[in-house]
Amino acid sequence: MSKEKLVIFDTTLRDGEQSPGASMTRDEKVRIARMLEKMRVDVIEAGFAIASPGDFEAVQAVAKAIKESTVCSLARAVDADIDRAAEAIKPAARSRIHTFIATSPVHMQYKLKMQPEQVLEQLIHAVKRARNYTDDVEFSLEDGSRSEFDFMCRVTEAAIAAGATTINVPDTVGYGEPAEYGAMFKRLIEAVPNSDKAIFSTHCHNDLGLAVANSLSAVMNGVRQIECTINGLGERAGNASLEEVVMAVRTRKDVFPVETDIVTEHIVPTSRLVSTITGFPVQPNKAIVGANAFAHESGIHQDGVLKHRETYEIMRAEDVGWNTNKIVLGKHSGRAAVKARFEALGVSFDTQDALNEAFARFKELADKKHEIFDEDLQALVSDSAADNLAERFKLIDLEALSKSGQKPTAKVHISIDGQAVESEAEGGGPVDAAYKAIEAVAKSNADLLLYSVNNITQGTDSQGEVTVRLERNGHIVNGVGSDTDIVAASVKSYLHALNLLESRRERSHPQRDGV
Ligand code: KIV
Ligand code: ZN
Repeated sequence: MSKEKLVIFDTTLRDGEQSPGASMTRDEKVRIARMLEKMRVDVIEAGFAIASPGDFEAVQAVAKAIKESTVCSLARAVDADIDRAAEAIKPAARSRIHTFIATSPVHMQYKLKMQPEQVLEQLIHAVKRARNYTDDVEFSLEDGSRSEFDFMCRVTEAAIAAGATTINVPDTVGYGEPAEYGAMFKRLIEAVPNSDKAIFSTHCHNDLGLAVANSLSAVMNGVRQIECTINGLGERAGNASLEEVVMAVRTRKDVFPVETDIVTEHIVPTSRLVSTITGFPVQPNKAIVGANAFAHESGIHQDGVLKHRETYEIMRAEDVGWNTNKIVLGKHSGRAAVKARFEALGVSFDTQDALNEAFARFKELADKKHEIFDEDLQALVSDSAADNLAERFKLIDLEALSKSGQKPTAKVHISIDGQAVESEAEGGGPVDAAYKAIEAVAKSNADLLLYSVNNITQGTDSQGEVTVRLERNGHIVNGVGSDTDIVAASVKSYLHALNLLESRRERSHPQRDGV
């Protein structure tokens, strides 16, 4: 069967970032974008340029760093958004503006307070304006799956006539059902006279757990772009997960009339990176990238796989990047080897000082742990110091005591705005004691929403990676910290979260406010 190309549009950096607490710094976005490029993702939606100065800078930084993939910014169908998106993506080798407006009766009446004819007029104007900046313009009918079919046809025809090269009909609220959503695309493509001038696209949310099924059903009905995210990250229950759609298409070649360019061996490392940066752990039974996705527990299964792998395995773990965390570095590795390995992981250093700092951290870790895996390196560059964050709070020293029959205590020595302070407290455990000691002097007034510990690699000398989610006045941040000592990792993650809160890298959410 001859295959058509399926465009993979990754929106981890935009819709994925809309998960509460998943906000990423500019440098983190660039690191993820580099991995996506290595994976040969076709389009990287880097953000929503008008949302905040931080979003603008991040889109621009990704546009500068990425050479192969198309870099895209979201924009509402209004002039200011489109101009800002165009400005942010200007440095990109290939660029796209993705503009949208809602087309469902409920959104038009209650959110936009606009008549359908006004919506139509506005989107035509927006697409034309975007086309003045780039030949690659995507138009999305927000809440498309709940829009009236005749209006959807008029909108689609008008958007294409105005210059849109991709038409996306999102299932914004995750209400779609595979057969119905797929049939809708078939009807739409048949009914719109100029449909051959655009690529049709799907963007599904996972509120009913159907995002991947809906996306694939759309593909069976003529869609040739899927919008998706790593680990299925995204607004509310998330988006269709990139790894699932890509592996479904690849594994069921007999069914799907399409193929992607994705280098699947980069899937697991990218999933790990996104999880480390956002602090959203991947559930063990998650398809493709979960720790148990290729683990066979039952004796019957193990026996079968040993005799003939295909008895119970439909994919090879190594094809998606499992089992590739070979020991790459150790105590005796030199600066050049460490730098090269970081670069292979998408981490580059702008200055010699930044490299020196990362190398010093590497040496410190190598003294405690003699096998350094890629995941360890990723973790090393995931907290404040590595992230160009203004570090109001810095750890100088930590002492934690936990003895059977005695109340755990912790003494922390930190610097706040360059001033060294010491604080001591008791707690339910050493981590609790350390957090109480920090709070006694930091007085952040933040609420702790989440505390989670994951081992980065295997073995008892593995680094523990701690994620702490704090909220203050509606502003949510995720701090991450890693160390072979869990209490130290916990303290680092808490201080990282405090530094993030201080940086007030807040995003406004114009998308939620409508147009
Ligand atoms: O879910 C949605 O409708 C969106 C659009 C802006 C594409 O994210
Ligand atoms: Zn969305």
